[in-house]
Amino acid sequence: MPIRSIIIGTGSHVPQRVVTNKDLASRVDTTDEWIRTRTGIIQRHISNDQETNSYLATQSARKALDMAGVRPQDLDLIIVGTMSPDMPMPSVACLVQNELGAKKAGAFDLYAACTSFLYALSVADKFVRCNSRMKILVIGSEVLSRVTNWEDRNTCVIFGDGAGAAVITGTKEDRGILSTHLHSDGSLGELLIIKGLGTAFPVSHENLEKGWQYIQMQGREVFKHAIKAMESAAWEAMEANGWNGDDVDLLFSHQANIRIINFLGEKLGLPKEKIFINIHKYGNTSAASIPIALDEANRTGLLTPGLRILMVAFGGGFTWGSVAMCW
Ligand code: COA
Repeated sequence: MPIRSIIIGTGSHVPQRVVTNKDLASRVDTTDEWIRTRTGIIQRHISNDQETNSYLATQSARKALDMAGVRPQDLDLIIVGTMSPDMPMPSVACLVQNELGAKKAGAFDLYAACTSFLYALSVADKFVRCNSRMKILVIGSEVLSRVTNWEDRNTCVIFGDGAGAAVITGTKEDRGILSTHLHSDGSLGELLIIKGLGTAFPVSHENLEKGWQYIQMQGREVFKHAIKAMESAAWEAMEANGWNGDDVDLLFSHQANIRIINFLGEKLGLPKEKIFINIHKYGNTSAASIPIALDEANRTGLLTPGLRILMVAFGGGFTWGSVAMCW
């Protein structure tokens, strides 16, 4: 039996403060009705000044480690998927490493926007397949509220803050991660972009006035690409494992828009009870969306041994991909 990666613990953490659609309707020209029907979002959690990306990531990590029964000092590697780090350097992963006291762990951040967690999980999977004893902490964590223009109704109604984590190790049993498929198309990067927080367009009065420090999104275009890419990544995973729709027990789609999730479920022929949805509570938490969902499902007892799980995500870059696993 080949070595496979398994998830032995999950955790998640979201900021305390809840912002409802009604709260947003008092700030920008929108309504609760529009947001609910067009996105499926009812509320989102928004960080205060203390709830930084690394803080949320560390909290989610502690819960995952606790569930896994793994001590921080036994971790070999920490990978944080994010596009809203505390700062460019040190990485969120290094801040988490220090907070946890994970003395022997390597640590790095991975940038693939909303697909970051699946990218990070894929990387962790490759390490574990080489050395089944490795213990890797994979986190998806975002504080997108800090890079959102709260006067732009196209974006501010969608995103939320949060973090989710998973502890990965190896097994020779016939379960765990079965396949990973990653894709990208940089030619479409401009459709979903934070232009001004890097080194090409450094912070300046001029660039701040243009709003380049914020997420800018051409929502309708992104939507069209997202549904196509996610459907194709889902079929790719299913074909690789010889699955048809009936073989998927639970779908974890990136929680970007309820209409995207339902569309994907329909295309795959999945009944509603096989599609995990929590977008109404958190909005789009980007890299944190799938690990928060996984943790919620895990803690409510939905993830039973042998369950066949399909995870599919799409995000800026563009990036997209899928991970199939047997729990
Ligand atoms: N409240 C009220 N009206 C709004 C609005 C808001 N928050 N945002 C946009 N509108 C208006 C638009 O101005 C437009 O008005 P018009 O017809 O008078 O021009 C109308 O609603 C439709 O706008 P459109 O952008 O076509 O809406 P949509 O149905 O595509 O929904 C998104 C917008 C952003 C919710 C949707 O496109 C989406 O979810 N996109 C993908 C998001 C995604 O996947 N993100 C990246 C992956 S992480």
